[in-house]
Amino acid sequence: MRVLVTGGAGYIGSHTVLALVAAGHDVVVVDDFSNAKKAVVSRLEELAGRQIPVHAFDLTDAARTDELFATEQIDAVIHFAAFKAVGESVQKPAMYYRNNLDTTLSLVEAMQRHGVTRFVFSSSATVYGEHAPVPYQEDWDRLDSSNPYGQTKVMIERILTDVAAVDEAWRVALLRYFNPVGAHPSGRIGEDPTGTPNNLMPYLSQVAVGRREKLTIFGGDYPTADGTGERDYIHVEDLATGHVAALEHLDTMVTRTRAFNLGTGTGTSVLSLLRAFERAVGRELPYEIGPRRPGDLAVTYADPARAHAELGWRATRTIDDMCADTWRWQSQNPQGYPED
Ligand code: UFG
Repeated sequence: MRVLVTGGAGYIGSHTVLALVAAGHDVVVVDDFSNAKKAVVSRLEELAGRQIPVHAFDLTDAARTDELFATEQIDAVIHFAAFKAVGESVQKPAMYYRNNLDTTLSLVEAMQRHGVTRFVFSSSATVYGEHAPVPYQEDWDRLDSSNPYGQTKVMIERILTDVAAVDEAWRVALLRYFNPVGAHPSGRIGEDPTGTPNNLMPYLSQVAVGRREKLTIFGGDYPTADGTGERDYIHVEDLATGHVAALEHLDTMVTRTRAFNLGTGTGTSVLSLLRAFERAVGRELPYEIGPRRPGDLAVTYADPARAHAELGWRATRTIDDMCADTWRWQSQNPQGYPED
């Protein structure tokens, strides 16, 4: 298939581009580079061993989005491009709703005009909200989120479901990610957050490389084995093959829209992840226990059974693999990608 990957220069998008090429698909990338560096593209081409067509524009521009579909032959869309910082979304809700909804609507309308009906959406475990029991299962129907970023994921899942409901040709996979970490084993591509990292793994790896003084663990009094929060960390390489599996499953999907958890099914505490990262680095890392972060849940992890049964996919990489690959990327690229 010839697949349009929106946000293909971003963290998960770039790893998925390589997984698509490895599986024999052709890829077209669209990215506005607002949260990605141009250097990603040359590294992707080096790893893929081929040129990758890249369109640099913002998908909120509906006219350019339409033109893209008019000029490129596209069989399916994998939609990653979005704003994704939870805290920023609380401060700037209108900006988040505008961007994440407009980009998706531009895409959907262009797809409708050009007869493209295959869509894989980058959703999040955040849609399970505060009340779903763990492990999270896809048929939980009270989708909700405590922050505007998460609400955009809930809304877009709904929009895509409604769009598919009125056109029998449409097939949509809603992929609900748990906590993506890790990097390509080459050490050439990885996560490169702008500014101070919001998420645990990039923060930890920046402590290890000397860019941050110490890790602050947000809360040591949760009702968990060691008092720190537990999450379902999933290697970005597993996540990438999950996208390929979902894409290849669309044509045989019985329902027009289907949600899939992409996780491992296992929770790991902040302290356990810290210890695993120390093993990867080969030394102890400085940390302190601080107050809880508002909005955080104690424990979240996936029930990954549906993805295994229907997509034939499961995560195979361990926490130690995730830490080793993150550390290879961070130690070889201490400042992330070179500036454009
Ligand atoms: N944590 C720390 N210190 C830090 C950063 C995080 O102790 O500096 C802890 C958090 O409290 C949490 C765990 O590490 O227990 C993981 O936190 P992340 O910020 O890495 O990930 P979250 O689970 O909070 O967020 C992730 C995604 C969001 C998504 C959310 C809910 O990053 O996009 O899951 O599904 F919305």
